[in-house]
Amino acid sequence: MATKRIGREFRFLTETGSTNRDADAAGAAGAAEGLLIAADTQTAARGRMGRGWFSPVGVNLYFSLVLRPDVAPSCAGSLPLVIGLAVAEALAECAPALQPKIKWPNDIYVSGRKICGILCEMQLKGGAIDYLIAGIGVNVNVTADQLPPELRASATSIAIEARAPLPRENVLAAILNRFEPLYDEWRAFGFKALAQQVNLLDLLRGKPVRMELSGIPAEGIACGIAPDGALLLKTAKGLAPVYSGEAHVTRVGSAV
Ligand code: BTN
Repeated sequence: MATKRIGREFRFLTETGSTNRDADAAGAAGAAEGLLIAADTQTAARGRMGRGWFSPVGVNLYFSLVLRPDVAPSCAGSLPLVIGLAVAEALAECAPALQPKIKWPNDIYVSGRKICGILCEMQLKGGAIDYLIAGIGVNVNVTADQLPPELRASATSIAIEARAPLPRENVLAAILNRFEPLYDEWRAFGFKALAQQVNLLDLLRGKPVRMELSGIPAEGIACGIAPDGALLLKTAKGLAPVYSGEAHVTRVGSAV
């Protein structure tokens, strides 16, 4: 590991409910920026949209960082894309055969299947960010047989794709090494400084997608990621920036 702050303070738990929950408690208790809490397994892992996260023991990475970025809360929505860029670059470095893609707003896919999920949770104080928890789950060595039947068509791992297991600590170090400079750039210059790199790995670009806009179902073509991190969706009404939600590719045969 070559970081200066991120992950230098490190807590490892053999089992926990959720590393995001533990990091949230540490953040509320005043933990410094960069604290990393990792676990070998989670019994109540949190995913996006109230879902869980498959966390089998001893094979994957489950970790959360306490961050205290000095940016406006309205800018924090693009942080998952910055983490996604760090993870995608790290996976390509650790397993060069992989071609990871970023699926807006916070997933990493390889060969059409999800390999990493990111859950950022923000706590405000007096209208400013007090701290932010960045939770990251990476499927490293889980095998196809170990995946529950409901995930077999939609999830993958580094070991499945590269046909060889990797030491989890190497993958973790690569992610943190990539993340720290990207995070510093994002804090200093905003997401616009990284938008081009993220767009090069955009899984959705040019694809027909279905999503909800303010609770109303909408269909359109994904046209890239804007300098503020919004997904640009071209609908019959024109080009609209979308700031939150989940995009489903509508092309027949697509697993995303
Ligand atoms: C998603 O739904 O795609 C996001 C999944 C995030 C899972 C990670 S695993 C480590 C951290 N702890 C949690 O409880 N969730 C995140």
